[in-house]
This record gives sequence, C-alpha cells and structure tokens, in this order.
Amino acid sequence: MRYKSVVVTKRGGPEALQVVENDLCPPSTGQARIKILATPVCGPDIQHRYGQTPIAPKLPFVPGYAVIGVVDAMGDPEQRGGGGGADFAVGDRVAALTIFGGYAEYAYLAEEDLIPVPAGLDPAETVTLILNYIVAYQTLHRSAKVEAGDKVLIVGASGGVGTALLDLGKLANLRMYGIASKSKHHVLLEYGAVPIDYQTQDFVEVIRQAEPDGLDAVFDGMVWGYLDRGFSLLRRGGTWVQYGNPLSFSGLLRLLGKLVLLNALPNGRSLRLYGTTTSKFGRGRYLEDWATLFELLEKGKIKPVIMAKFPILEAARANALLESGRVTGNVVLVAPELLWGHRLPGNHEGVLREWT
Ligand SMILES: NC(=O)c1ccc[n+]([C@@H]2O[C@H](COP(=O)([O-])OP(=O)(O)OC[C@H]3O[C@@H](n4cnc5c(N)ncnc54)[C@H](OP(=O)(O)O)[C@@H]3O)[C@@H](O)[C@H]2O)c1
Repeated sequence: MRYKSVVVTKRGGPEALQVVENDLCPPSTGQARIKILATPVCGPDIQHRYGQTPIAPKLPFVPGYAVIGVVDAMGDPEQRGGGGGADFAVGDRVAALTIFGGYAEYAYLAEEDLIPVPAGLDPAETVTLILNYIVAYQTLHRSAKVEAGDKVLIVGASGGVGTALLDLGKLANLRMYGIASKSKHHVLLEYGAVPIDYQTQDFVEVIRQAEPDGLDAVFDGMVWGYLDRGFSLLRRGGTWVQYGNPLSFSGLLRLLGKLVLLNALPNGRSLRLYGTTTSKFGRGRYLEDWATLFELLEKGKIKPVIMAKFPILEAARANALLESGRVTGNVVLVAPELLWGHRLPGNHEGVLREWT
C-alpha cells in the first residue's frame, strides 16, 4: 500500500509544497503508525519553509507541528521488549507535538511521544490544543502565573496563539488588551478584550492612559517591534513573555542579549522566553496541561476559533491562506472524510468562498 505526504522541496512560498507518495511500511521497534485526522497550519510551518529559523531545517522535509490521529499499527510487541507493557493499542485516539511530519496521511511516531486523547473530541479543535493552546496555557499559567483581575496585553491577538490566549485569558478573568489589525477587532471584542490597532494607534500611549499603574503581563509573539518600547509598560514585578520564534541565528543572539540585560535591571520586571521545544517544564507538566485543556474543551469552557479547514493534501492552499494575512484564529488540515458538514461562522464565509 502507498500513502501521501506534503513535502517542502525548496525554500520559498506555498508553491514549494509538493505531494509525494511513499510506501506504507509496518512501524518499527518502539513506534506506532498513526492515521492522521488533523494537523494545524501555523506560523512556525511558514518560518521553517522560508528557512527563517536560527537553524533552518534541511530539505526536503514534511511540515506539520502537531497531529491528532488514530493508532493504525504498532511495532511488534516482542521487538518492543516482550514485556507487553505498551500504553497504546490499535484504534486509540492519540496526539503528538511532532514539530515536523504532520502534513501527511500517516506518521510513524515513537510510542513515548504519544499523548492519549479522549475519543469524543473533534479532531480539528483538539489539534489546536496540542500547539497553540499549550503555548497560551503555559505562558499564562506557568511563565507569567496570572491571577484573576490581572491586566495583560496580547500582541498578535488575532492569530492562532493569540486567540488561544484570548480564550484562556477570558476563562481566567483577566483584563485584556489585544494588538491586532482593525478588520479583526470583532474577535477580540467577543472575548472582552480592548482592541488596539497597530496601524493607527500607538500601543504605548493607549496602555499608559488606560493602565497608569502598569500591566501585570505581556504575551508577545512578534519577536521584535514591541519589546523595546513596551517593556516599561509593565508594573514592578510584571512579566513579559516572549513566545515568538527568532527568525535567524543573529536574532536569537540578540534576544538572548535582551534577556540578560532586561532581567539585570533593578526594576523588578522580568523577560521570559517561551518555546515548545526549549521549554523547561518537562514532559510531565505538558501531559498535565494537555489533560487540563482536553477537559476544558470537553466541558465547552473553551472554543478554538477555526477559520478554515482543508484536506491534508491541499496544504499548499492552506499555507497560502495563512500567509495572506487574512486569517483570524486557526487553519487546520484534516483527513478528507472529516470535511463533510463543515461550516464557517458568518464573518468568514467570504474568505472561505475565495479559497475553496
Ligand atoms: N514558542 C513556540 O513554541 C511557538 C509556538 C507557536 C507559535 N510560535 C510563534 O508565535 C508567533 C505567532 O504564531 P501563530 O501560529 O499564532 O501565527 P499566526 O496565526 O499567523 O498569527 C500571527 C498574527 O500576528 C499578527 N500580526 C502580524 N503583524 C503584526 C504586527 N506588526 N503587530 C501585531 N500583530 C501582527 C497577525 O494578525 P493581524 O492581521 O492582526 O496583523 C496574525 O494574526 C510566530 O512567531 C510563531 O513562530 C511560537
């Protein structure tokens, strides 16, 4: 049997994504073969494709930062050591933070990297928890340790991580300000955030007037453009969490320099860097936090914004949509059988018509 995946063949735009065929082999020792149900299209996928990372991934590679799927085959139990202690079985619903490999019909994953997922959850919504919501949850509750009533600023509030911050921030009863382009302000208002238009308003002036005592925390996915001017908006003891990925090695060094400098100043404010691949929280904390997020989704306490779904093999069109700058929330690739019956919320119908 054969299966297909979507491969980045050269550095550049969405046209660099090509569908290729591979042999469907049995999983090897310690692996599970996963039939992929959903994988997000996210900012880091685009940065990887253009090579805008401190260490660019080698070509060719399959993007896809996270997956939800079903275990389709397991490595031979005897080869796994004969102890029979496998935690997963064929038919189980699982997830993984893959970093690469999600744009495919199947993935081969180490059993130890699998995350158990409650079977009843919608795969497209759930896959947003594996990346965007875990970033939002951990930056809020582990990096900044927010409390009800805290005053926070979210930079890039309309994006995949940004809308997750708004959703979880509302649940935590935060007073939120969000920076986003004007056409997307309706989403920020739905979460009770005060929107700031970065094209026509000076965010420093707006916040200084609204919060003269300063902010408790800032969540910044932009890397540059906000930190230098905005750091002084924090109150004493406030935290700036930088989760945007540096786009080059020199950018990473500059950011590390800022980390040392700003944290050495005797003003009680701190800068924290957050990365899913560099986080110090450990696997145990991740599993705990994903379980919390699954429960919140099951109980209807959070609701990811999904602007569009595409079949997995149409990843190039989905990437073009995200790159167009017109997306609010998430774009998700799904197994074609899951697209049946999908409808977009009112405001997004125009965009869907153009892109499908
Ligand atoms: N550390 C990690 O582990 C991790 C994980 C995921 C993502 N990230 C990083 O987080 C960032 C966001 O990722 P994402 O997947 O959420 O991307 P996304 O969905 O593409 O969202 C990015 C958002 O930024 C906004 N934006 C663009 N230019 C802006 C500006 N000058 N000022 C303010 N907002 C601006 C865009 O909306 P507007 O139309 O409103 O401008 C867009 O909604 C990326 O740098 C990504 O690499 C890091």
